[in-house]
Formats: sequence, C-alpha cells, structure tokens
Amino acid sequence: MSRMALLALLSTLLALSAVRAEDPYLFFTWNVTYGTIAPLGVPQQAILINGQFPGPNINSTTNNNIVLNVFNNLDEPFLLTWNGIQQRKNSWQDGMPGTNCPIPPGTNYTYHFQVKDQIGSFFYFPSLGMHRAAGGFGGLRINSRLLIPVPFDDPADDYTVLIGDWYTKSHKVLAGILDAGRSIGNPAGVLMNGLSDDPPLFTMEAGKTYRYRICNVGLKLSLNFRIQGHLMKLVEMDGSHTVQNDYESLDVHVGQCLSVLVTANQEPKDYYMVASTRFTKYMRTATGVARYAGSKVPPSPELPAGPVGWAWSFNQWRSFRWNLTASAARPNPQGSYHYGSINITRTIKLASSVGLVNGKRRFGLNGVSHVDSPTPLKLAEYYGISGKVFKYDSIGDEPPASGASITVAPNVLNATYRDYIEIILENPERSIQCYHLDGYSFFAAG
Ligand SMILES: *[C@@H]1O[C@H](CO)[C@@H](O)[C@H](O)[C@H]1NC(C)=O
Ligand SMILES: *[C@@H]1O[C@H](CO)[C@@H](O)[C@H](O)[C@H]1NC(C)=O
Ligand SMILES: *[C@@H]1O[C@H](CO)[C@@H](O)[C@H](O)[C@H]1NC(C)=O
Ligand SMILES: *[C@@H]1O[C@H](CO)[C@@H](O)[C@H](O)[C@H]1NC(C)=O
Ligand SMILES: *[C@@H]1O[C@H](CO)[C@@H](O)[C@H](O)[C@H]1NC(C)=O
Ligand SMILES: *[C@@H]1O[C@H](CO)[C@@H](O)[C@H](O)[C@H]1NC(C)=O
Repeated sequence: MSRMALLALLSTLLALSAVRAEDPYLFFTWNVTYGTIAPLGVPQQAILINGQFPGPNINSTTNNNIVLNVFNNLDEPFLLTWNGIQQRKNSWQDGMPGTNCPIPPGTNYTYHFQVKDQIGSFFYFPSLGMHRAAGGFGGLRINSRLLIPVPFDDPADDYTVLIGDWYTKSHKVLAGILDAGRSIGNPAGVLMNGLSDDPPLFTMEAGKTYRYRICNVGLKLSLNFRIQGHLMKLVEMDGSHTVQNDYESLDVHVGQCLSVLVTANQEPKDYYMVASTRFTKYMRTATGVARYAGSKVPPSPELPAGPVGWAWSFNQWRSFRWNLTASAARPNPQGSYHYGSINITRTIKLASSVGLVNGKRRFGLNGVSHVDSPTPLKLAEYYGISGKVFKYDSIGDEPPASGASITVAPNVLNATYRDYIEIILENPERSIQCYHLDGYSFFAAG
C-alpha cells in the first residue's frame, strides 16, 4: 500500500472511530461582568458570570465535552481555570497564564475540554491577579456514567455548598495593598454560596438522603463545616471515592472539595449549616439553613461548636482513605495503586518566603517570585523560543538558606515525562499557604 493510501485509510479509520466514540457535548455561553453585591452588608464590586455570584454550576458526566464561550466584559484580562480537571489532552485550555493567553477585555474565547476519565466534585475560578477575591467561581461536578456503579445509593438531591473567606475590598484595592508592600490582612467574613446570613439554601424531605458537595473557594483560610444535629458521611474527596466514615464536622482547606451524604433523620425543622475559620486567633463564621420540606420552625439559635487546634485536623485527615475497590475511572500512568512501592525519581523541596521587591509585597518559592512572561510559557516552548522568554530551573530542588533575598522571574522547573516526583512544600511563614497544583488530580497522602 502506498504511503498516501495508508495515510488516507488511517485518517478514515480515525474519523470513523471519532464518530463512533463521540462523547456528548455540553455548550455554555458565559458573560463575565462587574456587578455590585453586598454579602457582608458593604456594597462592593464583584465579578459575576451571567449576572450570578457565585457563577453557575456546571453539571457534567464523565467524558463529556465541554464547550464554553466566555465573554470578558471586565476592564482587565481574564482567565478561568478548572480546578482538579486533569488537563492531559487539554493543557492549552487549563486557564492558567503559563499555558493560556488571557482573554483580553471586550473579547471572547471558547474553552473546549473533556472531563476525561474523572468523577467527583470540583470548582472553577479566575486565575489572574486577585480576581478570585471578587468572585467568578462556581461548582463543577462530574457524575459517573450510568454503567459505572457508584459506591452509594442515588441521593434524593445533590447540593453544592461553596464556602470561603471573604474581603469587602474589591480585587483592585487588594492588589493595590500588596503593590504598596502591605499585607491584605484578615478576611472580613466567611460566605456560604455567596451569602453570609442564614438564607434557607437547601430543602430536605424527612427520611431522605442528600449529597452535599462542600468546596472551599476562599483565598487562604481553612474552614470547618458542620450541620446542626446531623452526621455527614464522607463519600468522595477531590474526585476520589473514599472509605465512608461519619463525621460531626469536617475541615475543608482552600481548594478542596468534599462530598458527604446527609440523611434527614431528625425532627422536621430548620437546621443551621455552619462554616467557621480554623487556626486563626479571630473567628469568622457563615451560616445557612437546611430546611426540612414544609418546616416553619426556625433553627435552634445555638450553633454547634467547631473543633479547636491543629491536632484535631491532622487526626481527621488521617482518617480519610481512598476506597480503591470502588469503581471510578482513575488514570495512573505508573499503573499501580500502590504508591508506596513506586520508586521516587526526584524529590523537590519548595519553601515559601515573603518580602519586599521594589516596594511590592511578593511571595517567593525557593527564592524566586514568579512573574508571567508576556508570551505564555508553553507557547514559547511550542515555537522553540523559550530561551528568549524564560530560563528553566532558576531555582534548585532545595530551598536556599533562609533570609536569602527574593528575585522576580518566570519560575519554571524542568521535569521528565513519567518521572515519579515527590514534592515537599515547606512553609516557614506565620500564615497558611495554599498551592494550586494545576492540571493534576490528587489524593493528598499527608
Ligand atoms: C454581557 O453583559 C453586559 C452587561 O449586562 C451586556 O452589555 C452585554 O451585551 C452582554 N454580552 C453578552 C455577550 O451577552
Ligand atoms: C446533572 O446531570 C445528571 C446526569 O445527566 C442528571 O441526572 C441530574 O439531574 C443533573 N442535575 C442537575 C441539578 O441538573
Ligand atoms: C466568540 O463568540 C462568537 C459568537 O458566539 C463565536 O462565533 C466565536 O467563535 C467566539 N470566538 C472565540 C474566539 O471563541
Ligand atoms: C468501597 O467500595 C466498594 C464498592 O462499592 C464497597 O463494596 C465497599 O464497602 C467500600 N469500602 C469501604 C471500606 O467503604
Ligand atoms: C525500585 O527500586 C528497587 C531498587 O533499585 C528495585 O528493586 C525495584 O524493582 C524498583 N521498583 C519499581 C516498582 O520500579
Ligand atoms: C530537561 O531535563 C531533561 C532530562 O531530565 C533534559 O534532557 C533536557 O535537556 C532538560 N531541558 C531543559 C530545557 O533544561
């Protein structure tokens, strides 16, 4: 067979298989605008999606293709990232400035990605500047395909609870504070689905079981979540089914999503859901109401107390286990569920530091504070001009001695495909650090 004919045959076969294997498409058009909201009683500028804060939920099923046309009507470049969605084939779509060009103001860009071989609870958020402090986030769920058994009965309904710390200053004011060399200080409060003050958020019918997906969409604070009088059965975290244990309350750290089952097995009335800050000297709390259908009885005013101290949180974390026998798509290039027995190819230790650089407050990793290059990093690699745009490995795999000054540069580490890398994050600072490990799915081991 001639080469041309073979190629033609191949492309015909590919086209056929593409048609046959085509997974369903979900289409969205989103209009991103500023709007005024006052969740803590103070009117402030927020980022809305189709007029909503938080933004709309995306409800998808494993392998769905998502086509999402985003119109940026802000006065600044804008990007959305899909937290926890693995970007294996979609790495140009992951909405981080290193791989995606920002969407310029007044223009639109269409994301096209597949929620391939994944299940579970995630959220999306804006990835540039301080935008996340102003909204633009929302829930993203991936249901299992019908033929894949889920390790619990279908819940009567499925609710998304987005909790997070909240500042009453606009994202531009917050950025201005950092650029003036100061800290943005403590959050003014905590929000639950964009509200702070006891709104009836969800309805449960007595006797039925509901799934709540709780995500911490805040900037920095860990939160404890609990529902008055009800136990929560943890069934999934960040896209993995877990061993199912009951909890009175759960710590949810920034970026994390937990799914729990709650059975309406108490006196039929209203109950408070509470999200309160952890590991802080001050206390910020948001409450919302879960209402039994038809209830006219308000919740008992006494809020369930949250846990105290770090140890509680560590111990709870240790009780979380991945249920490796529960069916779920789980891509794993190393081909092993036994992570402990895979040899680590490389260990990278990253330590944070904070300091003033040219009067601006900047955080560094191993002494380098990242700036985005005008040309996105992956684009520079693609066109073979990375040498003109950034340097690889300007930091080493070990942090410099403490007290070293911070330099500003694109901070890029070179890793080898299929290496099995251990990353140790060290935080010598006095406040919590949160890392967004973009494009990968994780089950944190400790
Ligand atoms: C987006 O919303 C703004 C403000 O409401 C409106 O002027 C604009 O026409 C909308 N754009 C689209 C594409 O819907
Ligand atoms: C989400 O999608 C699933 C699967 O298509 C569907 O059964 C469910 O009703 C949807 N839920 C919502 C809230 O739209
Ligand atoms: C912008 O939106 C228009 C109208 O929906 C669409 O036809 C076009 O493909 C979009 N452009 C991009 C770059 O996504
Ligand atoms: C794990 O999932 C399997 C399959 O659904 C189930 O039979 C088993 O009870 C679960 N194990 C635990 C410890 O929850
Ligand atoms: C890990 O390394 C040890 C010692 O070099 C070797 O015997 C073992 O086969 C390796 N394990 C895997 C999974 O590659
Ligand atoms: C990245 O590392 C690989 C080996 O691990 C090496 O072959 C390659 O040259 C490095 N690339 C750069 C740009 O440093």
